[in-house]
Amino acid sequence: MAHFQFLVGILILLSALADGSLHRIPLHRSPNFKRTREAIVAEQLYVDHKYNLNTTANGFPMEQLSNFNNLQYYGNISIGTPGQVFSVQFDTGSANLWVPSAQCSSPACVQHKLYYSNMSSTFQSNGSVFDITYVEGTVAGFMSQDLVSVAGLRGVLQTFGEVTTETGANFLNSSFDGILGMAFPPLAVNLVTPFFQNLYHHKLVQQPVFSFLLRNNGTTASYGGELILGGSDPALYRGQLTYVTVSNPEYWQFVTDSIQMGNTVISRGSAAIADTGTSLLLAPLAQYTQIAGIFKVNSQGYFRCRKISSWPTLNFRISGVSFKVPPQNYILQEGAYCTLAIVSSNQEFWILGDVFLGLYYTIFDVGNQRLGFANVNNTGSTLGQMGVFTMLLSFILLKLWVH
Ligand SMILES: *[C@@H]1O[C@H](CO)[C@@H](O)[C@H](O)[C@H]1NC(C)=O
Ligand SMILES: *[C@@H]1O[C@H](CO)[C@@H](O)[C@H](O)[C@H]1NC(C)=O
Ligand SMILES: *[C@@H]1O[C@H](CO)[C@@H](O)[C@H](O)[C@H]1NC(C)=O
Ligand SMILES: *[C@@H]1O[C@H](CO)[C@@H](O)[C@H](O)[C@H]1NC(C)=O
Ligand SMILES: *[C@@H]1O[C@H](CO)[C@@H](O)[C@H](O)[C@H]1NC(C)=O
Ligand SMILES: *[C@@H]1O[C@H](CO)[C@@H](O)[C@H](O)[C@H]1NC(C)=O
Repeated sequence: MAHFQFLVGILILLSALADGSLHRIPLHRSPNFKRTREAIVAEQLYVDHKYNLNTTANGFPMEQLSNFNNLQYYGNISIGTPGQVFSVQFDTGSANLWVPSAQCSSPACVQHKLYYSNMSSTFQSNGSVFDITYVEGTVAGFMSQDLVSVAGLRGVLQTFGEVTTETGANFLNSSFDGILGMAFPPLAVNLVTPFFQNLYHHKLVQQPVFSFLLRNNGTTASYGGELILGGSDPALYRGQLTYVTVSNPEYWQFVTDSIQMGNTVISRGSAAIADTGTSLLLAPLAQYTQIAGIFKVNSQGYFRCRKISSWPTLNFRISGVSFKVPPQNYILQEGAYCTLAIVSSNQEFWILGDVFLGLYYTIFDVGNQRLGFANVNNTGSTLGQMGVFTMLLSFILLKLWVH
């Protein structure tokens, strides 16, 4: 059938050529036109405007992110025709896309944007069921397919989860409606092709690479950072990029040379993952216990404050290069008491969330299975005076550990 249509198309084209009825549109060329950098940029801006594409100065599609308290970063995607806009967390620690379904009456759903398949002309049913369990709750529902678009790019037909039950406090107050997973395909529930891989297969991005700038200068709806699809932007970082091979391409997992708190070696050869969907730093229990000992953290998670800058720097050595997290970035102060933005996890690997990724521009190179880190161009404010309320909220909102 498809072949037949193709053939008919060719025949129509040939007959059009034969009778000369193809329209020829004369092209005008200005005589002194120079293809200067400015001209290219101007043309690009014009084209971007025309197609409503957001791009970086060096030409890659760019999704602007909102930042809530340096703890949650999210941006808009559109699903269906006409587009229904959802705000999603772009999460490198999971691999599925899901949004609340119009069929969901859980409190966490009704506080958020719902997807109405019956209002989309491009919806296709799938119906296989899925559930994803987080420590604090579960999202469950069924799969559907529809056009999904990001950063103004053309939509691709994507299989995603329509969530019909959302239990637990996790998502009740989240500033985003759903999650768009950007980990590797083996991690995807029901082995659905993840969205970024789908974009790349449809040639909507030039290279199988994406990168994140997570600004850490506090809550802003408009420029909390950016997700660049198909490349990276050297204007956003300074100095060299340091690459590290992904050791287990499910999570964005790699092996650190060492992790030190000041002069104390916490581990050598620990695995770690880069996870934009987690706010804090999570350490394997034994290593967390060692760190908590240095600060004399009590059973409630607090320790007695002193001048924050007098505490040691946390230092991740990766591919021979030091990636420092100063105490201002991992300690939160509330009056006389302080608490760590480092918590324990029951995983074997460290989870480097926004506390780390806010300091380092990160390139997720899907094609070469490697991560690139560099210093961000300007680090904003620190965690400092965020307050215990925010901290508690961040614990609630911490995306915890699945699979
Ligand atoms: C997302 O869309 C909403 C309206 O639908 C808009 O208010 C908000 O600014 C958008 N966010 C970003 C980061 O563009
Ligand atoms: C679409 O479905 C919702 C419930 O899921 C219903 O309330 C609404 O009336 C339906 N809209 C149309 C146009 O069928
Ligand atoms: C539903 O989606 C899954 C995952 O992409 C696929 O394996 C399955 O064949 C689909 N089922 C239907 C009925 O389309
Ligand atoms: C492009 O970015 C602007 C903010 O700079 C935003 O308002 C607009 O919605 C974005 N467009 C798309 C298609 O994402
Ligand atoms: C979460 O949302 C509910 C309902 O809007 C509200 O009552 C509650 O105070 C919120 N909790 C937090 C921690 O913001
Ligand atoms: C963060 O920096 C951006 C760009 O410099 C600025 O527009 C925004 O207001 C800043 N936000 C805060 C909370 O300081």
